[in-house]
Amino acid sequence: MSSSAVDYARQNYPRFLDELKALLRIPSVSTLPEHAGDCHFAAEVLAADLSKIGMENVRLIETKGHPLVYADWLHAAGKPTVLVYGHYDVQPPDPLDEWVSPPFEPAERNGNLYARGAVDDKGQVMAQMKALESLLAADATLPLNVRVLLEGEEEVGGEGIASYVASKPSQLDADFALVSDTELFAPGLPTLCVGLRGMIYTELEVRGAKTDLHSGMYGGAAPNPFFALAQILAKLKDENGHILIPGFYDDIIPPSAEELAAWQSLPFDEDEYRINEVGSQLVGEAGFSVLERTWARPTLEVHGIPGGFIGAGAKTVIPAKALAKVSMRLVPGMTPAKAFDLYKSYVEKLVPPGVDVEVRLIHSGDPCLIPVDNPYIKAATRALHEVWGKDTVFIRSGGSIPIVGDFARHLGLPSVMMGFGLPDDNLHAPNEKFNLKNFALGIESLIRFLEETGK
Ligand code: BES
Ligand code: MN
Ligand code: MN
Repeated sequence: MSSSAVDYARQNYPRFLDELKALLRIPSVSTLPEHAGDCHFAAEVLAADLSKIGMENVRLIETKGHPLVYADWLHAAGKPTVLVYGHYDVQPPDPLDEWVSPPFEPAERNGNLYARGAVDDKGQVMAQMKALESLLAADATLPLNVRVLLEGEEEVGGEGIASYVASKPSQLDADFALVSDTELFAPGLPTLCVGLRGMIYTELEVRGAKTDLHSGMYGGAAPNPFFALAQILAKLKDENGHILIPGFYDDIIPPSAEELAAWQSLPFDEDEYRINEVGSQLVGEAGFSVLERTWARPTLEVHGIPGGFIGAGAKTVIPAKALAKVSMRLVPGMTPAKAFDLYKSYVEKLVPPGVDVEVRLIHSGDPCLIPVDNPYIKAATRALHEVWGKDTVFIRSGGSIPIVGDFARHLGLPSVMMGFGLPDDNLHAPNEKFNLKNFALGIESLIRFLEETGK
C-alpha cells in the first residue's frame, strides 16, 4: 500500500492522539442543559480544526439546540462528492464512581484510550478529520469533493440536523454519505454496517390525586399512580419478550434468506456473548437468534421510573404522579408515527380507574437498510482489505443513528457506515474506550477509502 497520506498520518499520529484527547476533555453532554456551552465549544474546536487543515466555507449552523458544523472542499471536478458525518455530543457520564479514571480526563491503559465519547463518537470524528488533514497535507488536494456535517444532538434524537436535512439545502448536494459511528463485528475484522434500528422514545406519565397524600390517612381509598404504571408496563410485553401492542409487528420486513445465512457465518458465540457481555441468562423471543433479536426485531424497554420518594430512609406518601421513560426500537418496514399511534392507543385502553395517563413522544428516528450494490461500498471493501488484510463482513446494528435514514429519504444518499468501535467499548456506560490500534487503522482506512472513491 503506497499512499503519501498514509505516511503523513503515521508520522503525525502522536499529535492526532493529543488533539483527540483535547476534544475529549470538553464535556459536551447534549442532554444536560448545563453543558450547552461545552457543546458549543466542542463545535468551535472542530470548526477551527477544519479551517486549519484547509477545508473551506467552515461555519457553525445554529439550530434550536446545539450547532451543526459545516465545511467543504469542492475542487475535484468530475469526481463524486462525499458527505462526511459524525457527532460531537456525548452521553452523560454517570454512574461516576464506576469509572477507573475520570470520564473527561482521557487516560491510556492497555492500548485503549478511556473517556466518555472516546469511541462514540469523538474518536471516530477525529479519525475522519485526520484522514482529511492527511490527504490535504500530503497531496495538497483531495481525491474527491468533500462536505463535512457534524452534529451535537445525536444522543438526544438529532432534531436540529433532521430539520436542516429535511429542508434539502443545496449545501448538502452529494453522492454518498460517510458515517463513522459504528463498530467492527470483532477485533481485526473489517466491517461495514448496513442496517440500523429506528426508535421512538416516550414518556408515560400517570397522575392520581391532586397532590401527594399521607399514605396512612388515604391509603386504601386513594389510587397509587405507581401501581397503575406498573400494571400498564406489565401489559406492554409478555414474559417471552413478545410486545403486546396490537399491530406492532404487522409491517416488519424480515431479513432476506441471504442476509440470514451471512449472519450465520459471522464469528459469534452466544455463550461467550452471554458470559462476557450480558453476564446472565439471555432473554427474548424464542425462534430468533441473538443477532436477529438485536438487529432485526423491535424492542420495548423501560429506562427509568422517576418520581415518588427516592431519598434515603422511609417516607409514607402516596405520590401524586409516576413517570416511566419507555423506548421502542423499530426495524425496517416500521415507521415511528405508526408505532407511536399503536402504542398510545393501546396504553390509553390499559388505564386503570382513578388515574389519568399522558403519553408523550420525546424523539423518534426511522430504521434504515443500506443497499450494498453501489461503487462506494465496493471501494470501501477494497480499502478495508488493504488496511486489515481481510474480507469485509456486512452487519446490522441494533443501535440507532436517526439521520442516516434521513440522508436516504431527503437527500437520496446511500451511506457507507464505516466505523471502528469494538463490541466491548462500553458505549454509554462507565469506562468507555477506543482501541488505539483501531484509531490509527481507522484513519488509514478512511484515507484509503476516500482515495479509492476518487479513482
Ligand atoms: N453510535 C451510536 C449508535 C450505534 C451504536 C451504532 C453501536 C452502531 C453500533 C449512537 O451514538 C447512539 O447511541 N444512538 C442512540 C440514538 C438515540 C438516542 C436516538 C441510540 O442508539 O440509543
Ligand atoms: Mn454515536
Ligand atoms: Mn451513542
